[in-house]
Amino acid sequence: MVEVISPASRLHGSLTLPGDKSISHRYAMLASVAGGLSTIRNYSSGADCHSTLRCIRALGIEVDVQGTEVRIRGGGLHGYRAPAGDLDAGNSGSTMRMLSGLLAGQPFPSRFTGDESLSRRPMQRIMEPLRRMGAAVEARDGKFPPLVIRGGALQPIEYEMPVASAQVKSCVLLAGLMAEGLTTVREPVRTRDHTEVALREFGADVESGPGWARVRGPARLEPRELIVPGDLSSAAFFLVAAAMLEGSDLVLENIGLNPTRAALVDFLAAVGADIQVLDIGMRHGEPVGVLRVRGSRLAGGVLEKGLSAALIDEIPVLAVMGAVSEEGLAVRDAAELRVKETDRIETVAENLRRLGIRVETAPDGLRVEGRQRFRSGTVDSFGDHRIAMAFAVAALSADGPVAIEGAEAASVSFPEFWSKLREAAA
Ligand code: S3P
Repeated sequence: MVEVISPASRLHGSLTLPGDKSISHRYAMLASVAGGLSTIRNYSSGADCHSTLRCIRALGIEVDVQGTEVRIRGGGLHGYRAPAGDLDAGNSGSTMRMLSGLLAGQPFPSRFTGDESLSRRPMQRIMEPLRRMGAAVEARDGKFPPLVIRGGALQPIEYEMPVASAQVKSCVLLAGLMAEGLTTVREPVRTRDHTEVALREFGADVESGPGWARVRGPARLEPRELIVPGDLSSAAFFLVAAAMLEGSDLVLENIGLNPTRAALVDFLAAVGADIQVLDIGMRHGEPVGVLRVRGSRLAGGVLEKGLSAALIDEIPVLAVMGAVSEEGLAVRDAAELRVKETDRIETVAENLRRLGIRVETAPDGLRVEGRQRFRSGTVDSFGDHRIAMAFAVAALSADGPVAIEGAEAASVSFPEFWSKLREAAA
């Protein structure tokens, strides 16, 4: 599918966005091993979160979906049944990496597959800790999906993660629910803590602090009634687009503002965006608020170290912003971008160049010069949702229409993106 986006002078109005992808995955997985019926409202409409539901269903769990309301009847930590065939995670790294933690403690083998993109993403990062806990895990060429997991009784471990990855941390903590004793994970830089927050909400014995988390198994999780906040990583496209367009005044309702995700708001404010947080409250341990953003002059800046990790999903759209900022944007310490749904250093640079923007790449990042103007042209999502949406933002401030090929990729996290964008630009 090709979407053609015309330049716009502003974004305005008030939008509600779909439920957070990271939180939706976690609520669904925990509900699937809780003892009874959980209800999750505002569940992400993205295909990735529905891949998680499909896998849970294939494991014999009753899942009822009515729009964005999902009911899941968990049968406790050992309520899964051996799946009749492969578990298909689609495009979703979160589904494969996190659910593997729960499969590692099951007394039956499972085979996990994914689409072409997921089949190229590294899995040693979860295989190593799960093997140390006692599960047998095999992969194609020792590292890529399909994964075959032969679970069983697990030992608790203390695990020092070599890469900063919330998916790996979550995988180990979920496996730790089934191991007898304390499982501890330490991370090199702080990553999103939705799993720790959600585990607490479901009644697990969990402790955590900056850079570490610990869970006590075997756990008994209680079913819950939950509401998922709007997705800040989806909001990012609208926040950046509105900040870039001078006449904008846009309000985004009900957005998750967990401090381990909200670095985006601080970074945008630091580069000069006129962004305000209104009405902040707490729901199930997660801060939720309203954001208002207006068009402003943007300075640009540097993303490095822990900030690159904290903003890893937002870098494509921030690189777009860099091109129209005063000083441009330099991104370092972000080699993880190379193993996302696409190699996002290359796919961002390729599309920027197609729209006439000067950019240099490095093994761990890129540098986009400031004070440039996007030209009309054709870009490609390369099958990556965040690339499709980042370049729709570029299109809004181009000197003519931009065609985005493979625009359907946005559905992985945000099926309503194109209609919401048109609504705000109208
Ligand atoms: C996610 C963690 C990040 C992020 C992904 C979602 C999560 O991945 O890029 O979109 O929900 O835990 P890594 O754990 O690979 O950094």
